[in-house]
Amino acid sequence: MKRKSAKDIVGEAREDFTTYDLLKEYYQDEEEDMYWGEEQLDLIGMIGKGNQLVKQL
Ligand SMILES: [Fe+2]
Repeated sequence: MKRKSAKDIVGEAREDFTTYDLLKEYYQDEEEDMYWGEEQLDLIGMIGKGNQLVKQL
């Protein structure tokens, strides 16, 4: 059985406006989390893990 993508799930909820709005907001938030994670990985690549951790304090 093929696993559904986030896009498929949001698409199926298009008829249900409340669910659609909730899912859209949820995935937008997750997208921001993903960008934050990518930024941290780039930062670790540039300044090292120890310095990245100090920067979080
Ligand atoms: Fe998240």
